[in-house]
Amino acid sequence: MRIYCAKDYYHVSRVAANIISAQVIMKPDCVLGLATGSTPIGTYEQLIRWYEKGDLDFAEVSSINLDEYKGLTPEDEQSYRYFMNTHLFDSINIDKRNTFVPDGTEQDSEKACKDYEKIIHSHGGIDLQILGMGHNGHIGFNEPGSAFDKETHCVKLAESTIAANARFFASMEDVPKEAYTMGIKTIMQAKKIVVIVSGEDKKDIVKKAFLGPITPEVPASVLQLHNDVILVGDEAALSEYNKAVQ
Ligand code: F6R
Repeated sequence: MRIYCAKDYYHVSRVAANIISAQVIMKPDCVLGLATGSTPIGTYEQLIRWYEKGDLDFAEVSSINLDEYKGLTPEDEQSYRYFMNTHLFDSINIDKRNTFVPDGTEQDSEKACKDYEKIIHSHGGIDLQILGMGHNGHIGFNEPGSAFDKETHCVKLAESTIAANARFFASMEDVPKEAYTMGIKTIMQAKKIVVIVSGEDKKDIVKKAFLGPITPEVPASVLQLHNDVILVGDEAALSEYNKAVQ
């Protein structure tokens, strides 16, 4: 694993965007695995700036996102499809027909997940997967305890997650109770992985995930077994890791 320690969130975003740019320049028809959440927003903003300057061309790129809430339509402002459109796709020249997010409107979970795996395989797999990481080490919606051999599957959201999301919805009934997510196995099949972390609140989990035992209790710890991972973090997020390896 390679570690890239940047000064702050702005520089983390620039480094991550540089890695994505290099991938797009070297293989213009590459398949990018993308994530939502707050961490990659700065990376996407940077990619948009370079696209606007004429330095990047996404015309042939395909993208496959990690996850989506079951039951939400693409128009729903809380859906991950909506997030991707507003934070990236609407501002670059990617062909939206080549952008994939699990189909939240598909009620048949088995079908939704099988179809998604088919999409990934028919594209020849993911060239570069971008990941954020939760405070408990989750990646995608793979929470602690998730088996490492899972492909795309439907997860029941924890009560605490449902309660935390309630503020974004008109009523408790509208809050999604399930989500579709690439599994750990799917994620590990990506050819390259870039993990982006920022902020002091991530310092303990970064150390645990990358220096601690490899265990389903810390889903991101599985990344220690991948042969091409770059961890890009700011000084705050990498502080405990750096202390331990010095
Ligand atoms: C997003 C995703 C999540 C986030 C994680 C970190 O598609 O799958 O695993 O990457 O929750 O979120 P932030 O970046 O908001 O700290």
